[in-house]
Amino acid sequence: MLNIQEIKSHGRTLRVRVDREPEREGRPALWPSVGEYPIYDPFLYTTMTTDSERNERFRAALRQLAPGRRILDIGTGQDLLWAREGLQAGARHGLAVEIIEDAFHKAAANLSACDLQDQITLLLGESTNVQFAPRADVCVAEIIGSLAGAEGAAAVLADARSRHLEPGGVIVPHRAVTQAAAVCLSDLFPDQPVAFAEASLPYLRSIFDWHGAPFDVRLRVEGASPRALLSESAPVEVLDFNGNLRTGQRTTARLPITRPGHMDGVLTWLNLWCLPDEEPLDALHMKTNWATIYLPLFDSPVPVAPGDALDLTFAASLSDDGVHPDYQLTAALHTADGQEHHGSLASPHHGGSFRAYPIYRSLFPTS
Ligand SMILES: C[S@@+](CC[C@H](N)C(=O)[O-])C[C@H]1O[C@@H](n2cnc3c(N)ncnc32)[C@H](O)[C@@H]1O
Repeated sequence: MLNIQEIKSHGRTLRVRVDREPEREGRPALWPSVGEYPIYDPFLYTTMTTDSERNERFRAALRQLAPGRRILDIGTGQDLLWAREGLQAGARHGLAVEIIEDAFHKAAANLSACDLQDQITLLLGESTNVQFAPRADVCVAEIIGSLAGAEGAAAVLADARSRHLEPGGVIVPHRAVTQAAAVCLSDLFPDQPVAFAEASLPYLRSIFDWHGAPFDVRLRVEGASPRALLSESAPVEVLDFNGNLRTGQRTTARLPITRPGHMDGVLTWLNLWCLPDEEPLDALHMKTNWATIYLPLFDSPVPVAPGDALDLTFAASLSDDGVHPDYQLTAALHTADGQEHHGSLASPHHGGSFRAYPIYRSLFPTS
């Protein structure tokens, strides 16, 4: 059921298009992308602590890397998850850092409840601003976004490597990649309206409250079907945490169209390796807390057919906070009849335009 609801943020009332149908398994849902903002709450932490695809990979890496080592858990959250799991795997000490005050206090209560104060040191703050000694041997940081780098993993882990880790220290996860393929937004929501899930509204308001104004938030599509893809996929953002880790990057990929349809944007999703030689987590094909992100490129859907190709340039550069990336996409769709259609999108971490694309004007109607 579709309706328009109002949210209030900084004295401004916004109208939001809302899908009131309760969320259920197998039914796609639209949310703002939340992970890159300091608005985590118990519900979001629980979606992560119950994500077995994710957790098994982190646990397997800790079993291999933690015994006898000093572990640094960046972004430990309310549950002190990876510091505790590191100790269980045989680490000799855990240092846990958390930036959100409420989560830090819950983690502190957890620490005394588990009687682990001698083995885990808990710090409040952003890892890029804290100092401690001695350095760690292993850094585990689940600060990976649905767009792989969106939560600031490149800048945070480059800093961790230079200031917090022993030479030769290891970072978990090992690698994160953002994949992209051409899609049409309406194909991602067959037989249902394109509107924010009702349960996502408090998070939308928290993001706008945190920033101080509304902006075109990234669109998280939960339960997207791989059948909606119109093209081959290609990696557009690569983060090698134990290799050449870059805080800015620019990739150009050719995405050949594989089936007839209409396209208006790209869908992106995460591939994640906690250890180098494992099968990666794939957020499009597996059930996990990471979802896909839809990024609009064209004002209206353009017909496509096999033989056409989308040339996509995908750039990430640090925003003015020095940690979280802004993304910039440019696209040229080459169709078999010799035409070229051009599209682009600026997707900053915070700020930027509001209601710039038709999809955002539809999601935030003024009348
Ligand atoms: C995706 S959650 C992961 C929570 C928990 N570690 C888990 O894996 O379930 C990311 C957490 O990292 C925190 N965080 C992100 N960047 C951080 C940083 N640079 N320093 C400290 N905490 C950070 C966030 O506040 C959030 O609690």
